[in-house]
Amino acid sequence: MLPLLPLLAGITPVAVTAAGPSACSNITSQLGSTKVTSNELSVNYVESTECWSTLQDAYKPSCVVYPKTAQDVSVALQAIRAAGSRFAIKAGGHNPNTFFSSVDAGVLLDLSSMTEKSYDPDTTLATYQPGGQFGDIYEYYAQYNRTVVGARLAGVGTGLALGGGMSYLSPQYGMSCDSFRELEIVLPDGQIVTASEDSNPDLFFASRGGGGNAYGVVTKYTVQSRPAGEFWAGNLIYAFPQKDNVIEAIGNFIQYNTDPKAAIIGTYEKLGTPDLNLNLDEAIIMFLVYDGPDPGDAFTNFTSITPILDTTGIKTYTEVVNMPIPMSSEISRGPNIFRVGVHRAGDGSYENALDVWRNWAEDNKGKYILLSLDFQPVPKSLTDASKAQGGNAMQMPDGPCYRDLVASTGNAEGLPLFINDANYDQNPLQTFSAFEKLQEIKKKYDPDNFFADKTGGWSFA
Ligand SMILES: Cc1cc2nc3c(=O)[nH]c(=O)nc-3n(C[C@H](O)[C@H](O)[C@H](O)COP(=O)(O)OP(=O)(O)OC[C@H]3O[C@@H](n4cnc5c(N)ncnc54)[C@H](O)[C@@H]3O)c2cc1C
Ligand SMILES: *[C@@H]1O[C@H](CO)[C@@H](O)[C@H](O)[C@H]1NC(C)=O
Ligand SMILES: *[C@@H]1O[C@H](CO)[C@@H](O)[C@H](O)[C@H]1NC(C)=O
Ligand SMILES: *[C@@H]1O[C@H](CO)[C@@H](O)[C@H](O)[C@H]1NC(C)=O
Repeated sequence: MLPLLPLLAGITPVAVTAAGPSACSNITSQLGSTKVTSNELSVNYVESTECWSTLQDAYKPSCVVYPKTAQDVSVALQAIRAAGSRFAIKAGGHNPNTFFSSVDAGVLLDLSSMTEKSYDPDTTLATYQPGGQFGDIYEYYAQYNRTVVGARLAGVGTGLALGGGMSYLSPQYGMSCDSFRELEIVLPDGQIVTASEDSNPDLFFASRGGGGNAYGVVTKYTVQSRPAGEFWAGNLIYAFPQKDNVIEAIGNFIQYNTDPKAAIIGTYEKLGTPDLNLNLDEAIIMFLVYDGPDPGDAFTNFTSITPILDTTGIKTYTEVVNMPIPMSSEISRGPNIFRVGVHRAGDGSYENALDVWRNWAEDNKGKYILLSLDFQPVPKSLTDASKAQGGNAMQMPDGPCYRDLVASTGNAEGLPLFINDANYDQNPLQTFSAFEKLQEIKKKYDPDNFFADKTGGWSFA
């Protein structure tokens, strides 16, 4: 870290060092001291500066602000702008990229106190603020036997939906962002606006999958809720010698499964510990989820391979998002990074991805604790559901395709990268066919580059 670099760029030292604290004292005077902390030893400050990737824990904001309302966010943004401070917006804190939801010597807007939720039984629309984890949101809507299209792990935050959002329900209903019906957004200039098909439709388009911290701060989501009853779901864990059988079943599922109620994630796991010639360092964990009590033949290609552990059975949605074990997102906290590639089904890339990943893992043994290769299908039913609801910023061509977490296997021509799993250097926006349109929308809503200059996020340049 070179915090003094701005000095070399000719900015006066006083302005540079004072911007964060000056924004903080302005915000404190307007919102009151209960909504702001700059005490690095306080429980709140420590929790707010811990992200899923511990690489982000090193950064020390001048203060953390806990807005309760859109008005609070507006006050904070205007004060940050007036002081010329850097800032970051944090929902669940799972983005591992530097300065995406962390900030050094600036203002951290921690949305965790914004946890209001409601349900309208007449319209079946769900409305929630951006704080808390998807697990809390699911539990709230479970009382109505409903849920929303969000994370597959309970611990992940609502920023997921702004980057698209892949759910176990996505093959039926599209990405999380496809279920958006109306957003309340505080623009970079502090104005509070509504974005929907009818109101600021360009902003609404960009917010569906075009990423967070770019066009403003979303302070309320109104989304189409979905029914949630019984699920047949669980994990099958295989010993690594089954790797070729499992990869074949994954490939067949991606290519041929047509039941939108069936969803999988196929994960290959490798530990940094020695294998002792017994494959003790490797395992395959399948996540199988069926929306309904009877999956029919959807998963027989997996269940016919003998596992070493089988946890499948009838589950509630809350149990589904706590597979393989509760708190898995908290447990996997560490110096983590993501990389992603998107591929077409049936192009023979499955085996290649597995080989590339495994060779890298062998060559770099000891440099990591856990390496995970995840296969995530994007079936045609998903891209159809997305289009039926107006499409999103990703403008995904028809499935089937799939994404994996091995960037070195490349990205198929014409397929948009998934923002949520992308490394900061992968420029996902530039792989979107709507990139130019997004650049214009960005210019319109962030005309003086306040967000572009003062917080992290994807480059629109
Ligand atoms: C364990 C784990 C499991 C995951 N599972 C899934 C999955 O099932 N499906 C999937 O699609 N992705 C998944 N992801 C990826 C995940 O979508 C991204 O990491 C996402 O960034 C997490 O959102 P967050 O709110 O937790 O994180 P944050 O880092 O808080 O937010 C993500 C980004 O959005 C911005 N942002 C957040 N809220 C707002 C807001 N209200 N207004 C403006 N900007 C905002 C932040 O500034 C940040 O840049 C997973 C990640 C992890 C670590
Ligand atoms: C506080 O910020 C507002 C903008 O929100 C600005 O108008 C005002 O001058 C600032 N006050 C101080 C003391 O910096
Ligand atoms: C939810 O579903 C259960 C089981 O089918 C049922 O007993 C209960 O009445 C339902 N609750 C609501 C609010 O519909
Ligand atoms: C299972 O695999 C076979 C090929 O062995 C394929 O024809 C079939 O469609 C697959 N079924 C599913 C649901 O993936």
